[in-house]
Amino acid sequence: MKPNNRQLFLLHQAQTSEFPLLLEIVSAQGNYLIDVAGKKYLDLISGISVSHLGHGNEAVKRAVMHQMDAHMHVMVYGEFVQSPQTKLAEKLTSLLPPTLDAVYFLNSGAEATDVALKLAKRVTGKFEILACKKSYHGSTHAALSLNSEEEYQQAYRPLLPGVDFIEFNNLDSLALITHKTACVIVEVIRGEGGYIPADIEFLSQLREKCNQHCCLLIFDEIQSGMGKTGKMFAFEHYSILPDILLLGKALGAGMPIGAVVSSKAMMSSFSHHPILGHITTFGGHPVVCAAALAGIEELLRLDLIKEVAKKEMLFRENLPHQAIQKIDGMGLMLAVQLDSFENTIKVIQYAIEGGLISDWFLFATNKIRISPPLTITEDEIMLASKILLMAIEKVYGVSV
Ligand SMILES: Cc1ncc(COP(=O)(O)O)c(C=O)c1O
Repeated sequence: MKPNNRQLFLLHQAQTSEFPLLLEIVSAQGNYLIDVAGKKYLDLISGISVSHLGHGNEAVKRAVMHQMDAHMHVMVYGEFVQSPQTKLAEKLTSLLPPTLDAVYFLNSGAEATDVALKLAKRVTGKFEILACKKSYHGSTHAALSLNSEEEYQQAYRPLLPGVDFIEFNNLDSLALITHKTACVIVEVIRGEGGYIPADIEFLSQLREKCNQHCCLLIFDEIQSGMGKTGKMFAFEHYSILPDILLLGKALGAGMPIGAVVSSKAMMSSFSHHPILGHITTFGGHPVVCAAALAGIEELLRLDLIKEVAKKEMLFRENLPHQAIQKIDGMGLMLAVQLDSFENTIKVIQYAIEGGLISDWFLFATNKIRISPPLTITEDEIMLASKILLMAIEKVYGVSV
């Protein structure tokens, strides 16, 4: 008998865990995923923090088809003038302050992290890097070097030299920034650490210290960008600007992308001594850029960001249970904290059985992720809350 897809997946695809979810999804429409048996799941994670317009957005699909008709890949990044790239860079920089006026497009978030580190070293002539404990910036070698957790580092040493860690939201920790520091990389909303927003005082002192020591401040908004916090970029809540901004995930509107945004002056260092200081074959793929541009235009046309705060409140108001210790996060990046990993896994499993997809966090394994498409409706928020509460009750009993 021929193996089915699930067996083939286990047989021939590299596994990343010993307990994969194994849902076999055959289509995705709006805010729902549909499995091979026709069962519908409300999507509370948007794969992770990617599908902010929901699934199957018509304008994005049209842009992809239109670009495929014109041309797909033609040349490595940075040589030919390709209108999807130029239009996307123009649009993106029009949404950002004037100091962030040059974009380098890549294929993934981790790649954007790597490029940002290279840029910081090149611009400052220094090599020491500071990252925050329990932050995630990707899984490539350089990005992994920024992962503070011994469990992840020990298997892959030696990693990038000169990396040290500060405590997120800890002002004393900023003393680690010295004249030898090339850059500090920080998530404005710590993602895999369980959706913890940065304190304004922390970010403003961080900015000041970076200025004092001539080191670059990198904001990783790969997860928090594109409207999820109620602003297009989370740093807008703080009015503090980075020297380098990293984007990815939702920027591609469902297609793979990463982007480093900085000033034209800094970015120009990749073009000389050596020439081709960073190159990529597929970064800025025309079809991906066409999708991303249509995605930004849809996000603005549908005015989805305006609704985010109201939707956040609806989630917060409709999850009353004594087993919930707190709900962290901002906008539609929320993390429901329970008591243990074991119980969190059980709740997630019951939620999936009830038709709701959620997940835990890499560095916050007792938290349930709420990062739905921004298109989620009020009725769907009520439904998601109901299913989640039912799952929590199955594990902890009814709240008294
Ligand atoms: C904040 C942050 N940075 C970087 C990355 C890495 O992005 P990618 O998985 O596209 O390499 C992620 C992915 O989860 C992320 O959340």
